[in-house]
Amino acid sequence: MFELDDFSVSFGSGTALRYANLEIREGDRLGIVGESGSGKTMLALCLMGMAPDAATISGRLSIDGQDMTHANERLWQQMRARRVAMIFQEPMTALNPLRRIGDTVMEPLIVHDGLSRAQARMRVLALLEEVGIPDPPARMRMFPHELSGGQRQRVLIALALACNPALLIADEPTTALDANVALRITDLLVRLAHERGMALVFITHDLAAVARTTENIVVMYGGDMVERGPTAQVLANPAHPYTKGLLGARPDPTAPARDANGKRRRLPTLPGTVPPLSALPQGCRFSGRCAVELDYCATTRAPDHAVDANRAAACHLLGGVKP
Ligand SMILES: Nc1ncnc2c1ncn2[C@@H]1O[C@H](COP(=O)(O)OP(=O)(O)OP(=O)(O)O)[C@@H](O)[C@H]1O
Ligand SMILES: [Mg+2]
Repeated sequence: MFELDDFSVSFGSGTALRYANLEIREGDRLGIVGESGSGKTMLALCLMGMAPDAATISGRLSIDGQDMTHANERLWQQMRARRVAMIFQEPMTALNPLRRIGDTVMEPLIVHDGLSRAQARMRVLALLEEVGIPDPPARMRMFPHELSGGQRQRVLIALALACNPALLIADEPTTALDANVALRITDLLVRLAHERGMALVFITHDLAAVARTTENIVVMYGGDMVERGPTAQVLANPAHPYTKGLLGARPDPTAPARDANGKRRRLPTLPGTVPPLSALPQGCRFSGRCAVELDYCATTRAPDHAVDANRAAACHLLGGVKP
């Protein structure tokens, strides 16, 4: 359904997405992980036709075989209604605080689907029920501040589902929620994707959540897709030094707080931070932070190398010979 070919997005300050190649098929559940600033949201916005005006785009994005790379807003509005919808990280800012929940969710049904208010109301009641909101008739009359964070996120999911999108993009949908509620929202997304045959792109920092929700994973760093493959395999046996670092940086709750000498154990972290766009190395974006880099990594971009039949990673070390 969705296809990116060598898709790049750059700004005056640098390249936020570089030669992205991606295919999303009907019913796929794809996880996108990577540190802050790695380009995850930029990728999602491009799939929605919402790249910032200042961005220069190259390569190709197609939806259902139609070239959407430079499509105008009118075409995107049609695409967005039926093919793709997105839910954002912070449910409070994404909902209009001055509008009742019911009116917000009814709007796309009236505007896009041409339903009457009475028909839209029936659909909204069913949608709120579907996303697990108790007593939908009463909730429809409420304002966002009268709901809990988890309920607000469920309303946003209902809003995203209103026009039956073929793909739902969830950009860190649970970071503002406590762990228990986050787990239930994650499970809800998987259930909805399954029941509706809808594809799901799940963007997160939470590797445990990505393992629960997705079949395949793309690991991003500095605007590059550095590793991809079946989620379970990539997490169990990462091939790219960045993925290894990301997995190594997970806190182990069972590790004792002090080591054998009685010293307080430090949480493992990936050394350094993602540099700003303007300071990213020209070659492998991870060079400078990588523990095993070769002398040409900083200057030569690494192509995708097959790790096995359905896995790939962009690392020179997997290529064997010096280019
Ligand atoms: N409008 C813009 N103009 C210039 N640079 C931008 C713009 N929007 C984003 N960027 C840059 O693009 C890069 C990728 O940003 P993006 O928001 O996609 O990161 P992310 O992976 O979603 O991070 P996070 O996990 O914090 O949400 C960042 O370096 C960011 O500064
Ligand atoms: Mg983001």
